[in-house]
Amino acid sequence: MLRPMQKRDLPCVAELRSDISLQHALMASPLQKPAAIDRLQEATDWVERKEATGLFRIVSSQQDDAIGFVQICDIHFKSRFGWFGIALLRGERGRGVGWAALNAAEAVARNDLGLFKLLLQVRSDNAQAIKLYERADWRLVGHLEAHYHDGQERHDAAIYEKVLAA
Ligand SMILES: CC(C)(COP(=O)(O)OP(=O)(O)OC[C@H]1O[C@@H](n2cnc3c(N)ncnc32)[C@H](O)[C@@H]1OP(=O)(O)O)[C@@H](O)C(=O)NCCC(=O)NCCS
Repeated sequence: MLRPMQKRDLPCVAELRSDISLQHALMASPLQKPAAIDRLQEATDWVERKEATGLFRIVSSQQDDAIGFVQICDIHFKSRFGWFGIALLRGERGRGVGWAALNAAEAVARNDLGLFKLLLQVRSDNAQAIKLYERADWRLVGHLEAHYHDGQERHDAAIYEKVLAA
């Protein structure tokens, strides 16, 4: 379900990085002119940056193909928290993969990284993600008004946290 990235996973990561509406859903400011860059090199560099400050894992299918990623960023090792993120390829959503990947990431955060809690920011109109987090007992701790500007309009965001059982 979760494993370190391999070179053969780069097309999946590049596809997710080039998906403009996905990047706006993630509040991640999409790449400028993705057609004009080396997408695989950009994906490699991006994963390296993620791994330098946190954890990055590929979400893999039953056939061990890459179908998404999870990340835990900006880890504060003294207070033992980090910021969670997840994205799946479009065709892989809505079938319980997110649920399984979220549970696996929580276990990695607790057991391998020794984190006390995870936090996340989610756009307030991202109903599928919010349903997932609330069913997984994440707690809504705040709202960020007009927080993310997608170039045309501003979007509210919510902050959730989950204390990881010892
Ligand atoms: C958000 C995202 C990761 C969710 O993953 P997903 O695979 O689509 O989600 P799931 O199918 O696991 O959906 C969760 C659903 O399953 C439920 N669910 C799945 N397995 C479950 C289980 N074993 N027990 C209880 N609930 C379960 C969830 O509560 C929810 O309910 P629904 O089927 O009635 O809608 C995915 O849609 C995605 O990549 N979206 C784009 C990126 C994004 O928005 N990321 C989050 C940014 S903060």
